[in-house]
Amino acid sequence: MAGMTETARIPIVAFGPLYPYLDEALAQRFVVHAVPADADLNMLPDEVRQARALVSFGSVGAPAAIMDALPRLELIALFSVGYDKVDIDHARAKGIRVTNTPDVLTDDVADLAVGLLYATVRNIAANDRMVRTGEWAKGVKPALSGRVTGKRIGILGLGRIGRAIARRLEPVAGEIIYHSRRPADDGTAYRYIADPLDFARASDVIIVATSGGAEARHLVGAAMLDALGPGGVLINISRGSVIDEEAMVAALAERRIAGAGLDVFANEPHVPHALLTMDHVVLQPHQGSATVQTRKAMADLVLANLDAWFAGEPLVTPVV
Ligand code: 8YV
Repeated sequence: MAGMTETARIPIVAFGPLYPYLDEALAQRFVVHAVPADADLNMLPDEVRQARALVSFGSVGAPAAIMDALPRLELIALFSVGYDKVDIDHARAKGIRVTNTPDVLTDDVADLAVGLLYATVRNIAANDRMVRTGEWAKGVKPALSGRVTGKRIGILGLGRIGRAIARRLEPVAGEIIYHSRRPADDGTAYRYIADPLDFARASDVIIVATSGGAEARHLVGAAMLDALGPGGVLINISRGSVIDEEAMVAALAERRIAGAGLDVFANEPHVPHALLTMDHVVLQPHQGSATVQTRKAMADLVLANLDAWFAGEPLVTPVV
């Protein structure tokens, strides 16, 4: 896009760190004010308070305070599919629209979930360390692992990402079952289990693919982990808040479950210290959607929503 456009005079806020490609594209379109996620919102300069749109990563979101600090705010364009860090009720009350970036990241997040499943069940990360530290060369024999093929895969949250994971595992799973607030209404072949503990008992692996937020908070707690049992494996690519992290760490330490593959945590980027030395746990730094292609596609969706809004056209991927 050559030179600055008609929307060039429109002020917007980049709330927290974004991503170079998006930063450049926004700067070509708008007057961009970078506001750190921990900024004192009472001290925002007047030109910043004129912002009509806000862009942020899902891990930053938009609390009520930033909406109140920007009286002309019309649109929150999230660089994420998850909007659990946005005060949606406050946005609705103030008539502020919110968009996210669904679908474009589904395949990569599902791929990472499958990767974490294989890495955890087959001890890939621990065995990699054993080779790198020279233990194997010294004759230490790696422990035999479990197998993925034939496992009963429990999908917690059969949304877009949950379905993409299920499709990928159909060829190897013994069975695919799922638990959600209500059964899917599209006649899916996967077996729905209404009771969360029955669901966990019927699973060898639980893959957490729900959306985050208050309703899903600590959906996976001590009771569900004990129902999953000592041979069970837990995978999480959704939000750390969905799992009671203390209960999970205890279940892993006491081998009440066999292992976990985790891409998300309750207080990112901080991870419970006890997990750092557990060989039966695979840890990732929230990389589900972190591919070159997907982050660009997410950025393009953010831009498409902003362009549509300021052109008076319907939003592309509205949340509210
Ligand atoms: C984002 C994600 O990268 O889209 C989401 O909901 O969790 C990731 O794709 C993350 O929100 C960045 O903070």
